[in-house]
Amino acid sequence: MAIEVYTSDFLIIGSGIAGLSFAIKASQLGTVHIVTKKKDFDSNTNYAQGGIASVFDPHDSIELHIQDTLISGAGLCNEQAVRILAESGPKRVQELMDWGAHFSTQTNQNGSVTLDLGREGGHSHNRIVHAKDLTGQEVERALLDAIAKIKNITIFENHTAVDLLTQHQLKLAGRHTNNSVSDITCYGAYILDNTSGVVHIFNAAYTLLATGGIGQIYLHTTNPDIATGDGIAMAYRAGALIADMEFIQFHPTAFYQPGNKERSFLISEAVRGEGGILVNSRGERFMDTVHPLKELAPRDIVARTIDMELKRLGDHCVFLDISFKDKDFLISRFPTIYRYCMEAGIDMTKEPIPVVPAAHYLCGGIVSDLNGKTSIENCYVSGESACTGIHGANRLASNSLLEGIVFSHRAYCHIQETFNPELKATIPEFPQWDKKGTFDLEEWILIQHNVEDVKRIMWDYVGIMRSNLRLERAERRIALLEDEIQDYYKRSTVTSRLIELRNLVTTAKLVVESALLRKESRGLHYNINYPQQDEKLKGSFIISCNQPPMFMKISDISFL
Ligand code: FAD
Ligand code: SIN
Repeated sequence: MAIEVYTSDFLIIGSGIAGLSFAIKASQLGTVHIVTKKKDFDSNTNYAQGGIASVFDPHDSIELHIQDTLISGAGLCNEQAVRILAESGPKRVQELMDWGAHFSTQTNQNGSVTLDLGREGGHSHNRIVHAKDLTGQEVERALLDAIAKIKNITIFENHTAVDLLTQHQLKLAGRHTNNSVSDITCYGAYILDNTSGVVHIFNAAYTLLATGGIGQIYLHTTNPDIATGDGIAMAYRAGALIADMEFIQFHPTAFYQPGNKERSFLISEAVRGEGGILVNSRGERFMDTVHPLKELAPRDIVARTIDMELKRLGDHCVFLDISFKDKDFLISRFPTIYRYCMEAGIDMTKEPIPVVPAAHYLCGGIVSDLNGKTSIENCYVSGESACTGIHGANRLASNSLLEGIVFSHRAYCHIQETFNPELKATIPEFPQWDKKGTFDLEEWILIQHNVEDVKRIMWDYVGIMRSNLRLERAERRIALLEDEIQDYYKRSTVTSRLIELRNLVTTAKLVVESALLRKESRGLHYNINYPQQDEKLKGSFIISCNQPPMFMKISDISFL
């Protein structure tokens, strides 16, 4: 198959909530190409259970949503971004409904029908808009259905982005200033057609990175196999600024199943929101003495307490009990969770569910300003791969789907102001991808083992409880594995899996580097050598491939 040059106004990498919602809007301005490395619905979005946090209850308020988010973020949130998130929330959720998403409703005593708002950890009110326990699947369905009707959007399934097309030069105009302006411009990306093995050139006036999370760097994760940090690693290689990578959120309650599964099944926080309690193997409740919100304390606290409980008793799991609730209610409210547990031999209406924490969400990522703009010109980012500073050191439950729709909308609005349909005609000619190599099966198997090593190292040394010794050990081992994988990458023909492995190890390196820089404990980052929060460290470590780390507040960054 011949190498093609595809040109569009917008290249969107990723087909989760961030990419798809942006596509619908961008199509009003010009042509849109969406590339996605598996099927169109394969994404973290598709697995979201709990829902979308937004203020719809008249007794709730935007200010409370802001306060809850700030408290959860442990002093590191970008307050302006949080305000935008909470204020825009109801409008953007309404837009999802206008595009065809159906969320669960309730009929009130006066006969009126309103959204059924769930409760999750860290929220002071019921404000989780949901579609039973399949919210993400419903959102994906609605967005993909809407896109199918739009002529100037083309989705390329089974296409994996390899690297961004940029000059790969970074000259920041002044470090430690409020404005970090780079002179790198993005013109699209090299994209591998997974089926033919050909790497095409996708030129675009504007590129949106919407590649999602990095859960797959850990042995146990709720994330599906697409979550290998590709967008973050690509942006890092191109010279973009990356921040807050140390803040990995471990979801307290993944279903406990011995053996390594690619993805741990999530037991939504909404189960605790409906009254579920956590007990240890002795049947003792342990969250009630730890935090006033008990089982609904912020996630970092619940996950850490479970971790300590497991270590204290030498157990493999704790238990989430909601069996005291009405059976019909449980089956109707949590049909997916009920079915999964039944298939695994647990009847949640009669007995407690065995649960353990698992890597779930990355709070950091590619630094973006309030318009979704990265430090690379014409390159935007939205969703889990972005670092807007909204989540600070710990994301509030169900704020991430919301972040995706709110900041994709803002990126669209920002581009719309200066959109130039002629821009794509000025893209310089990029060389064809000519890297060919041999495929050595034996060596490939060794490299695959390397990935299992990365996942194990990250789980053992860069998990819920960290220490200097563990982090330094992880740093040395990840560096070695990175060298081996990079070397193999240089000598081999590119494949989707190889691209992922390379990105996985780069992302792991960024997490370890960031965790070593933060010499305190805050939010999701807990280091036993620095158990206290340090007020001097109320900021972010900003990493780039071109210069030493900088320490500054995300709110001080704007890419003009
Ligand atoms: P994703 O939805 O992950 O989409 C990323 C896309 O990028 C995918 O299509 C992927 O294939 C593609 N991609 C990646 N790399 C490449 C590449 N190199 N080339 C081409 N394509 C690429 N958040 C909430 O707010 N509420 C919830 O209830 C909730 N529940 C969750 C439950 C689970 C089990 C999980 C895993 C997460 C949950 N989250 C929840 C988090 C939330 O789902 C994600 O943060 C959010 O969906 C991320 O959206 P996104 O569009 O940024 O990325
Ligand atoms: C859940 O349903 O518990 C996940 C919610 C989230 O990650 O925001």
